[in-house]
Amino acid sequence: MRMYDIITKKRNGEVLTDAEISFFIDGYTKGDIPDYQVSALLMAIYFNGMNEHETSYLTMAMAQSGDQIDLSGIKGVTVDKHSTGGVGDKTTLIVAPIVASLGGKLAKMSGRGLGHTGGTVDKLESIGDFCTELSPEAFIKQVNDIGICVVGQSGNLAPADKKLYALRDVTATVDSVPLIASSIMSKKIAAGSSCIVLDVKTGSGAFMKTLDDSILLAQKMVDIGYSVGRKTAALITNMDIPLGHAIGNSLEVIEAVNTLKGNGPADLTEVCVALATNMVYLCTGKPKDECKEMVLGAIKDGSALDKLRQMVKAQGGDVARIDNTDLFPKAPVVVDVKSRKSGYIKHMDAEKIGICSVILGAGREKKGDPIDFSAGIILSKKTCDYVNEGDVIAQFHTSDASKIASAEELFNTAIVYSDEPVPAPTLVYEIISEPSK
Ligand code: URA
Repeated sequence: MRMYDIITKKRNGEVLTDAEISFFIDGYTKGDIPDYQVSALLMAIYFNGMNEHETSYLTMAMAQSGDQIDLSGIKGVTVDKHSTGGVGDKTTLIVAPIVASLGGKLAKMSGRGLGHTGGTVDKLESIGDFCTELSPEAFIKQVNDIGICVVGQSGNLAPADKKLYALRDVTATVDSVPLIASSIMSKKIAAGSSCIVLDVKTGSGAFMKTLDDSILLAQKMVDIGYSVGRKTAALITNMDIPLGHAIGNSLEVIEAVNTLKGNGPADLTEVCVALATNMVYLCTGKPKDECKEMVLGAIKDGSALDKLRQMVKAQGGDVARIDNTDLFPKAPVVVDVKSRKSGYIKHMDAEKIGICSVILGAGREKKGDPIDFSAGIILSKKTCDYVNEGDVIAQFHTSDASKIASAEELFNTAIVYSDEPVPAPTLVYEIISEPSK
C-alpha cells in the first residue's frame, strides 16, 4: 500500500477502505509517513469529507493508537464530559462534582488551555498543590473512594490525535466535521467511560461558528459513541459570548465555587444544570425532569460543593481556598475597563476576549509557557446590558501592567453596540441524545 494512492483516492472524492485508514494512522503514529503527505490527505478530507463508516473507523484507529484506559475496576456507571472548547468555560469544575455527588463515577482526563480557550487542568492547578498526575491505580482508587478524580491526559492517550491535531493547527484543517469528531471521540473512547456527554460550542468563540455545522458535528459524535457501545449525548451551547463573568484560571475556580453554592451567574448555572442533567440521565435512565431536580438538589443542599472539596483534598489541593475563595492569590494589577460608547451591548466576540485573557497572562502564547493563575478578566457587563460611556464593563487582572494597553485595545474591538434593546441569547440550542438511525 502507498500513501500516495490513498491521497489520490481521497482527492478524487472516493471512499477509503478500513485497511487504508489503518495504514495511514499506524504509519503516521510510528513516524513512517511524513507530515507533508498527511497534510495533503487532511486537506483532501477537509474538502471531500468522510462517510459515516470512514469517520467511525478513523476514530477507532486513533483511539487504538495508544493506551486505552481500563475502568473496569470502578464500581458503578462511569460518565465523562467533553467540551469542544470555549472562553470562560469552567463547566467541568461544576458539573463533575454535581454528578459525582449523585452517584455517577467521574474518572476524568482533562486538557490544558489551547489557543484562546482555557483548560480544566490549568484551572485545577490554580487551586494550589492540586496534583493532576496520578498513577492508574491511584486514579481508580480515588474514583471508587469518592466517585470523582480529574487528572491531566495520559501521555500516550490517542497519540495519533496528538500528532494530527498539531498538524491540523498549522494546515488550516481544524474545522472539519469528520476530523473534529474523530479527534474528540478517539480520546473519549480511549479514556474508557461508558457514558459521554459532549458540550458542542457554537459561535464566535468556538471552532464551529455556525449552528448547522455544530448540529452536524454533534450528531456525528453521538453516532460514533453509540456505534462503539457508549451512551452519548451532545448539547449544542452558545459560545458567542463567554460563559459566566470570569475568564482566567483562579477567577474561574472562584466563580465555579460560587455556582456550586447556588450564587453563580444565570447563564453558567443554566448550561451546567443542562449538562449535569443529561449526564445523570445517561447514568440512571430516570426521566429528565427527575434528573434535573436531583441536580438542583445537589447544589441546594451543598453536596455538590462538598464533593469538590473532597476531590481537592484527595488530590492534595489547598481546601482552604475552596472554603474561603478570598485566599486565592490576587493579581497585583487590577484595572477597570470603561465603555467607550453608550448603548446596548449587541455582541461580545468571545474569541477576541479569550485572546485578551491570554495577553494578560491567563493562557500560553506558546507551548510550555508558564501561566499566571491570577490573571484574567471579570466581565461586569455582557450582551443585552445597557451601558453609558464611561461605565466599567470589565476588570483586567494581571501581574504585568505593560500588557494592559494592548489587551484593552483588542477588548474594545470585541464589543459591538446597538441603539436598540437586544434579545437575550439562547444558551442551549439543541440536545442530541439518539443516534441518527
Ligand atoms: N477539540 C479536540 O480535541 N479536537 C478537535 O479537533 C477540536 C477540538
